[in-house]
Amino acid sequence: MNELDSLVKQAQELFAACTTPVELENAKAQYLGKAGHLTERMKGLAKLDIEAKKSQGALINAAKQAIEAALNHCREQLALAELNALLKAETYDVTLPGSLHSQGGLHPVSLSLERIEQIFNSMGFEVAQGPEIETDWFNFTALNTPEDHPARSMHDTFYVEGGYLLRTHTSPMQIRYAMAHVQKYQARIDAGQAMPEIRVIAPGRTYRVDSDATHSPMFHQCEGLWIGENISFKDLKVVFTDFCKTFFENEDLVLRFRPSFFPFTEPGAEIDIQFPSGPLAGRWLEVAGSGQVHPNVVRNMGLDPERFIGFAFGMGPDRLTMLRYGVNDLRLFFDGDIRFLSQFQ
Ligand code: PHE
Repeated sequence: MNELDSLVKQAQELFAACTTPVELENAKAQYLGKAGHLTERMKGLAKLDIEAKKSQGALINAAKQAIEAALNHCREQLALAELNALLKAETYDVTLPGSLHSQGGLHPVSLSLERIEQIFNSMGFEVAQGPEIETDWFNFTALNTPEDHPARSMHDTFYVEGGYLLRTHTSPMQIRYAMAHVQKYQARIDAGQAMPEIRVIAPGRTYRVDSDATHSPMFHQCEGLWIGENISFKDLKVVFTDFCKTFFENEDLVLRFRPSFFPFTEPGAEIDIQFPSGPLAGRWLEVAGSGQVHPNVVRNMGLDPERFIGFAFGMGPDRLTMLRYGVNDLRLFFDGDIRFLSQFQ
């Protein structure tokens, strides 16, 4: 066997012994690299005469081709081995027991909000959404609570940059919704024609600096507003009583409208409910603030309080949910504990 043949054989053996692509490329460099055995021999050709160059050159080329063929063959083998290993590692054992994916569901407060929306929809109320970052004007001033009004201290407000605040209640939606409604029907109102009544609820998140078993810095409210030419406190009582009986699925529920103060109502009332039986029987439970909309607020909506009148209420869906399911700590709603939440699915 001549020298070149044994070089080829050597390379073939070395390549075949490689177990990874990196090893193989390093082995290749020993023969075909810049200082590789074959490259060195090519350089050596320069010293030979023309005839010897031809014959030696042909032999070296043949050897080079043989080494390259061996290299390519080993590359393919390694790639194939890699693919086989991967396929083997990823085979499925169809006889193994499956892993169970539990199904998610709605949060109890979301369930309540859906219920609230359904019930008020059935009474002809629209559902509106509004911003959680509010201006002082919508949250307070337009609701008859000017800068120096003592009622402002009833709300522990989160103020944010740029003169904005996190809404402390959903009542700013009374103004926003009414203003948009008035704008839509301005021509009719000006002409003394009838305006379609404002009948809306506005559920959403609200914020106050407050935190204990019954208060959370973020909580939910649902505003209600009904404005027309002949809407009275009686309508408020009927609507809210119907709502509560439907929500709690209890025809014997008793409601009490207890006089209270809100700058944006006149008169104003706190609404309490009482269950006739069950663990909470006999206790008055506060569920909402309410009242006839104050004339100044009607004016800020862009309406004449001599002509338009109505009522508003603001209830706490978190509290309604606690009462409906017998939950005694509000914080459970916001902890995200799956053991608690999964009970409502
Ligand atoms: N916005 C009041 C509150 O957060 C509730 C309310 C709404 C009272 C509408 C009267 C009318 O306490």
